[in-house]
Amino acid sequence: MSETIGVFEVEDRTFPPPADFAAKANTSDRSLYDEAEADYEAFWARQARELVTWSKDFEKTLEWDLPFAKWFVGGELNITSNCLDRHVEAGRGDKVAYHWEGEPGDTVTITYAELLTEVCKFANVLRGQGLEKGDRVAIYMPMILELPIAMLACARIGVAHSVIFGGFSADAIVDRCDDAEARMIITADAGWRRGQPALLKPTVDAALETGAPSVEKVIVANRCDTNPDMRDGRDLWWHDVMATASPDCPAEPMDAEQLLYILYTSGTTAKPKGIMHTTGGYLTQVAFTHKYSFDIKPETDVYWCAADIGWVTGHSYIVYGPLANGVTSVMYEGTPDTPGKDRLWDIIERYGVTQLYTAPTAIRMFMKWGAQEPAGHDLSTLRVLGTVGEPINPEAWMWYHEHIGGNGTPIVDTWWQTETGGHMITPLPGVTTTKPGSACHTIPGVFAELVDDDGNVVESGGGYLTIARPWPSMLRGIWGDPERYRDTYWSRFEGRYFAGDGAKLDDDGYLWLLGRVDDVMNVSGHRISTTEVESALVDHEAVAEAAVVGGTDDVTGQAIIGYVILRGTHEPSIELGNEIREHVGVKLGKIARPKTVIIVPDLPKTRSGKIMRRLLRDVADGRELGDTTTLADPGVVDEIATRAAEDDDD
Ligand code: WTA
Repeated sequence: MSETIGVFEVEDRTFPPPADFAAKANTSDRSLYDEAEADYEAFWARQARELVTWSKDFEKTLEWDLPFAKWFVGGELNITSNCLDRHVEAGRGDKVAYHWEGEPGDTVTITYAELLTEVCKFANVLRGQGLEKGDRVAIYMPMILELPIAMLACARIGVAHSVIFGGFSADAIVDRCDDAEARMIITADAGWRRGQPALLKPTVDAALETGAPSVEKVIVANRCDTNPDMRDGRDLWWHDVMATASPDCPAEPMDAEQLLYILYTSGTTAKPKGIMHTTGGYLTQVAFTHKYSFDIKPETDVYWCAADIGWVTGHSYIVYGPLANGVTSVMYEGTPDTPGKDRLWDIIERYGVTQLYTAPTAIRMFMKWGAQEPAGHDLSTLRVLGTVGEPINPEAWMWYHEHIGGNGTPIVDTWWQTETGGHMITPLPGVTTTKPGSACHTIPGVFAELVDDDGNVVESGGGYLTIARPWPSMLRGIWGDPERYRDTYWSRFEGRYFAGDGAKLDDDGYLWLLGRVDDVMNVSGHRISTTEVESALVDHEAVAEAAVVGGTDDVTGQAIIGYVILRGTHEPSIELGNEIREHVGVKLGKIARPKTVIIVPDLPKTRSGKIMRRLLRDVADGRELGDTTTLADPGVVDEIATRAAEDDDD
């Protein structure tokens, strides 16, 4: 029988690992779990020594001064020598690191040896521009090979990268560069998107016109020949600086806790948080999870994570994890519908992809496009399917299972966050009997517990998802703001990391993620802060007050709905609503642009003046309105509902 929790039906269907898969899997029994259960520090120390090559062994596995962790204390390593040099030194230099596929159909195949050369050259370029260990560099690029090369070149010399997703706005670039005091921006003229160049360099120019005074230099890769303005003395072409760069750049050993990168993510306030990840612990957990969650066999697999490197998924599972494990990956520049809606399936067939890692929102889109798209391609090479970014509804899981996995390929639903650095909750494909819609269990060495409002552990049923012990790839803090780090993650429940998600534990001990319990929306698997969108809305001169909620959307999971009250003399109109909507796109980037802006005469508030978001969400979803008696002015609700209905008619 199925039961409803949140928006989900809990499935009673179960899918054990196929016997032939388990027989060859990297792990197929409980031994890793048992080992980690017995002594989790010893477990992670073993993984660190097995999966990572250290130039100096660590002395202590964990130093835990809640909430500040140091992993593999005293150890030294270079992350790029783990990702590149050691494979080349072991005679695997000719192995393909990336089969890169451009949207227009151009392709590049780059081997580990070639990638190492490019990384060394670009590291020398960075050095030549005066960058030193400890500096920060912003990277704002499309999905081209120069992006991982730039990241790895930074890492090689101890410069922290801060990748800014290519869909973000000039303002977002300014905020992030200012916060991290980035000395350089690495970008491209543009990237191909749906057959057109999506321009990036002009956005960087606009950013630098208004702010980011710490940025001294801009390096520009030429992807689309769009001939951007190049400012003398500031802007340099990638191909020019690389032409004369030396390929000789020995890997410098770094402390295990050397800052590797900052990645900004939205929280419940308007200011994005600079999540910090360091070297040794991060690499250990991403290499471990990549190997076991996806059952990676570096000799034979062709692995593909179809995310964008601008998000943490790309950092951990396009760049660092796969390269550390020495596997061949596919990297794709464009959108899944260009030139046709079978683009992904065509790529899988051509390269013989063995693992595909994507998001539920993409799967729902593929469902809409129809099963005939994958049916036209040979997908029989696929061995493991992964999902990430949001809860997967059982219907999408089953479609993925049937139409992409041919009814036999294990699916791993991986729960994790920018802050966690790597997978935390996921099935292991050779071990776990899966249930459609459940991320199943924590990985070996990670300990999650659900708690109630008072912080008491909940043994079954719903609760707040917390992590009870430190883990190697945990964030080391928020850049420049240790107090905010403590407040945001460690103060709600004493001694516990609170992830911001709600979850439920079923009677068999399976975890079901229920989504965010804070003011963070999840749109197409991307985290967007309601507060951030609200402040972009009120930034428009016509807007006096705004409230934003995540409505339900069949494809994107949630959709951003903004309610606004106009200032003084402004008259409501469709045009003005659209203009306000576009304003958010310009302020924050297109991904944060509301699907709908509804102009209302007032916002429903409680007597104490709090905006009633629940009610606005109900209106957005066209649901029946609940109890409205705590409204200051109950008439407002009807008015809002009417406006919302009118808006739907347009
Ligand atoms: C959500 C993405 C359910 C969750 C790697 C989390 C998920 C936020 C899953 C982190 C999943 C991610 N099932 N929800 N498998 N994976 N989430 O930082 O709400 O972009 O807190 O990291 O996405 O998003 P972030």
